[in-house]
Amino acid sequence: MGTLGPEREVRTRGPTAQVGSCPGAGPRERGPSGALGLESRLLGTQVLESGGRGDMAPTRDDEIRKDVQVPAVGPMAANYYGQVLKKSADLQTNACVTAARPVPKHIREALQNVNEEVSLRYYGCGLVIPECLENCWILDLGSGSGRDCYALSQLVGEKGHVTGIDMTEGQVEVANKYIEYHMEKYGFQSPNVTFIHGYIEKLGEAGIKNESYDIVISNCVINLVPDKQQVLQEVYRVLKHGGELYFSDVYASLELPEEVRTHKVLRGECLGGALYWKDLAILAQKIGFCPPRLVTANFITVQNKELENMIGDCRFVSATFRLFKLPKAGPTKRCQVIYNGGITGHEKELIFDANFTFKKDETVEVDEETAAILKNSRFAQDFLIRPNGEKLPTCGGYTAFEAKDIITDPFKLAEGSDNAKSRSPPEAASSCRGTEKCC
Ligand SMILES: C[S@@+](CC[C@H](N)C(=O)[O-])C[C@H]1O[C@@H](n2cnc3c(N)ncnc32)[C@H](O)[C@@H]1O
Repeated sequence: MGTLGPEREVRTRGPTAQVGSCPGAGPRERGPSGALGLESRLLGTQVLESGGRGDMAPTRDDEIRKDVQVPAVGPMAANYYGQVLKKSADLQTNACVTAARPVPKHIREALQNVNEEVSLRYYGCGLVIPECLENCWILDLGSGSGRDCYALSQLVGEKGHVTGIDMTEGQVEVANKYIEYHMEKYGFQSPNVTFIHGYIEKLGEAGIKNESYDIVISNCVINLVPDKQQVLQEVYRVLKHGGELYFSDVYASLELPEEVRTHKVLRGECLGGALYWKDLAILAQKIGFCPPRLVTANFITVQNKELENMIGDCRFVSATFRLFKLPKAGPTKRCQVIYNGGITGHEKELIFDANFTFKKDETVEVDEETAAILKNSRFAQDFLIRPNGEKLPTCGGYTAFEAKDIITDPFKLAEGSDNAKSRSPPEAASSCRGTEKCC
């Protein structure tokens, strides 16, 4: 692996919180002598599986990683989801069952059609059902009992396909048990869903081919995998050009100290392996994805005093991001776009991410990157896209682009949502909507 380029700023939160200010951790240096460096945090198992760093003797860091990863990668996480947890209610935090915003009606209905046993074993941390799904091929990383797969199987339709992959045999068994149930319920002649027992960092071994999926989703899983870079690289490989990874996961406000990263319950509860949020953009760029587009974020609350003490000043959010794989092309100019209202369930408006909402027939000025995504993805057919300044045939409103207003920090977005909730009546402030599982 190459190096990751210039070191990032050291993240602090507020005037007093320091990186590494969680209990038991003194001020930490970056790199080998203190917290694991960025490269180490992202690489995880690859180093271990190859028995250390090539011809070099294993360092203390290698030993530490070994201790961290062996229980967390395989047996521990598999046990946690296969044996320790039997249903969502057994979780100790709300990390794995939060919903950040109201669930659109067509998605709520699709979720309601999912079998009860499947839904009871749902451990996701967000809504990973994007828009414009008809006929799409979707891969779900860490599909668990298959709740999201079954909801999506209905939404992509019989000509689409959904593949779920998970390393916990018990979860794959539950998922497989209900294929016929769902196909009958949806009136499909033949199943459009497949579940594979396998590892998401080894999609090739599971038979998943290059450029074979339109969309990859994942719900609260990547935090459990030490080698996050390997996972994202595999996603990039299997996505078609113009495809996207639409995923919810847990992010930390700080670089996590060792005792948090290695704590078995915290890892199983999706907190210990959480990526420091700024590392996602670095990883995405390194692999070739467009910069992450933040969709939703909300704070995670820990309902266990002992775990809360371990976490100290670190904060966690569950956030949904979209990462697009675009064909390599020259720079795109700023554009004006008009949404035609053609996406099922989003006829009036398309909330694309935390920064852009496209109302039907309204002209919206977008930056180069957003223009490139809309032009080169499955959304192209629903947008009229023209260079800035050209007169567009619309009688709708106009929204200008303000670069300064763009939010990329999920903690800022979660604060905003919290403020909005506290100003709303209690029932509107609840994050529990429809059948979406909540604490
Ligand atoms: C928090 S649960 C989420 C399950 C599912 N996405 C849902 O929303 O219900 C995490 C799942 O990821 C799976 N998992 C963790 N690491 C994995 C890996 N390296 N490869 C495949 N599956 C993995 C676990 O077995 C578990 O089912």
